[in-house]
Amino acid sequence: MNTSINFAGIKMKNPVTVASGTFGYGREYSNFFDLSKLGAIITKGTSIKPRSGNKPPRVCETPSGMLNSIGLQNPGVEYFAENDLPFLKKFDTAIIVNACGSTIEDYIEVCKILDTLDIDGVELNLSCPNVKAGCMAFGSSYEGVKDITSKVRKVLNKPLIVKLTPNVSNIGEIAKGAKDRRS
Ligand SMILES: Cc1cc2nc3c(=O)[nH]c(=O)nc-3n(C[C@H](O)[C@H](O)[C@H](O)COP(=O)(O)O)c2cc1C
Repeated sequence: MNTSINFAGIKMKNPVTVASGTFGYGREYSNFFDLSKLGAIITKGTSIKPRSGNKPPRVCETPSGMLNSIGLQNPGVEYFAENDLPFLKKFDTAIIVNACGSTIEDYIEVCKILDTLDIDGVELNLSCPNVKAGCMAFGSSYEGVKDITSKVRKVLNKPLIVKLTPNVSNIGEIAKGAKDRRS
């Protein structure tokens, strides 16, 4: 049976992937599961410089699930390119990198590097706090989403997924910001 799809310009042999950040860069899971079975692997948030993340506790169980506040711990895009990407390329799956940052410039710089790598696409994590805008998430407003999507698009030629944040009141209006990006 042909289960292949074309998602936002990314060819996937099936529509099954993983939520960014819940699967690391796949190494730990590869001991238990054949990563080639996935249509795509979406990596954890990757930034221009390494980040050590928040102090523990980072995860808290609640009656209806769990809350997490990892703080975007990651080794940085250069380490990813030299170590994690060669590992992931051994598997027959699309590779989508979740990009994060604290300023728009961070996103632009990380996307410039991601554009040069042998990956299938980029997912912008817009739940990150914008330190130059009172730490409101980049994805909190129509204008904010439009601005960052427009600027990233200028440096990134690969397929782009704009991952909105759930902590907003009018998600429909905000989603239009990604669509209405300035060309
Ligand atoms: C431990 C953990 C780490 C996460 N890290 C990231 C991340 O690096 N980038 C990102 O965009 N989302 C991250 N997320 C959010 C997930 O990708 C997903 O959007 C979120 O868990 C909502 O999906 P769910 O309702 O199925 O849990 C993380 C979630 C968890 C639980």
